[in-house]
Amino acid sequence: MAFKLLASLLALAVASNGALIRRVACPDGIHTATHAACCALFPIVDDIQENLFDGGECGEEVHESLRLTFHDAIGFSPSLIKQGKFGGGGADGSIIVFAETETAFHANGGIDDIVGVQTPFVAKHNITPGDFIQLAGAVGVSNCAGAPRLQFLFGRPAPTKASPDLLIPEPFDTVDKILARMGDAGLSPAEVVALLASHSVAAADTVDPTIPGTPFDSTPSDFDSQFFVETQLRGTLFPGTGGNQGEVESPLRGEIRLQSDSELARDSRTACEWQSFVNNQAKVQSAFKAAMAKMAVLGQDTSKMVDCSEVIPVPKPLTKAATFPAGLGIKDIEQACATTPFPTLSTDPGPVTSVPPVPPS
Ligand code: HEM
Repeated sequence: MAFKLLASLLALAVASNGALIRRVACPDGIHTATHAACCALFPIVDDIQENLFDGGECGEEVHESLRLTFHDAIGFSPSLIKQGKFGGGGADGSIIVFAETETAFHANGGIDDIVGVQTPFVAKHNITPGDFIQLAGAVGVSNCAGAPRLQFLFGRPAPTKASPDLLIPEPFDTVDKILARMGDAGLSPAEVVALLASHSVAAADTVDPTIPGTPFDSTPSDFDSQFFVETQLRGTLFPGTGGNQGEVESPLRGEIRLQSDSELARDSRTACEWQSFVNNQAKVQSAFKAAMAKMAVLGQDTSKMVDCSEVIPVPKPLTKAATFPAGLGIKDIEQACATTPFPTLSTDPGPVTSVPPVPPS
């Protein structure tokens, strides 16, 4: 009763421009929302945090859930549609509903894990799989220090068909092929670079199957710019076995480098954009947030969706500046941006270290 009273008292809030906005008191008697439809999401977010992300961690399930937002959404091709073919429904949850088909695609190696983990959540709650995938991704990223608070639009209809194969970029694809595929989906080269900030909270299980959980940067629980620093360092070793498709040498023991990330960091079309993220946390956040907002609604009619971003938790800020890993410095940078020098960074103290794997949860 007291909660209900409090909720209705809170039903007016002050907008950033000072205007009063009416908020709806949710039936749970606890929350208020700008749109009644968003009320249904609060218990789902609580369940996700408690039971999918182990109480709000930025661990393996968050990394996998973020990857899943991309692999569902990028199944969208206006050029296929133009040819009169089905171009995929984009961020529609088809990767869950038609899991048998889509998890068998080569580019979806390892994704069956998180599809299997998320499917019972979708069944338990009154939410479409397309909405659930993007909600879980946004909530998950909020657990990583330094992440932006992502937008969440609610209202994707259920998918009708599996996405066609060969729409998801592979780590052994050329930069030409990756930029063309992403461009077909409506994402510019700068947006591709921004989206790859996701690889700062990421690891690979299947690229070198002998070393599952090997991260792409030294801080896989922080949403930071170390990924952009470390991909620019000269590759000197393979963390496991050499000769895996889509892998090139990395600069640190325990760290894996994708060929695609290496080439995007060095290609004249993307190198300066890549470097511009180094130690620029404000840009990492704003560019990733904007590109994710676009990616999360690929193939969807946003005029029929409701902005429920307010259900996404506010991430913790990052406290550490970007650095060169111990033992490495500017001499190890393979400068690729022709117009701007690499930013000045300090080097972590101590002897050369190796990066521990992301533990399975
Ligand atoms: C542009 C081309 C991209 C390529 C070629 C690519 C490729 C890959 C590969 C090969 C892996 C390792 C998978 C494994 O072995 O377990 C991976 C992991 C990951 N990718 Fe991407 N990716 C791309 C873009 C993106 C985008 C746009 C996002 C999200 C916005 C994303 C998010 C992730 C995340 C979070 C992981 C880590 C998954 C985990 O730790 O379990 N990637 N990516």
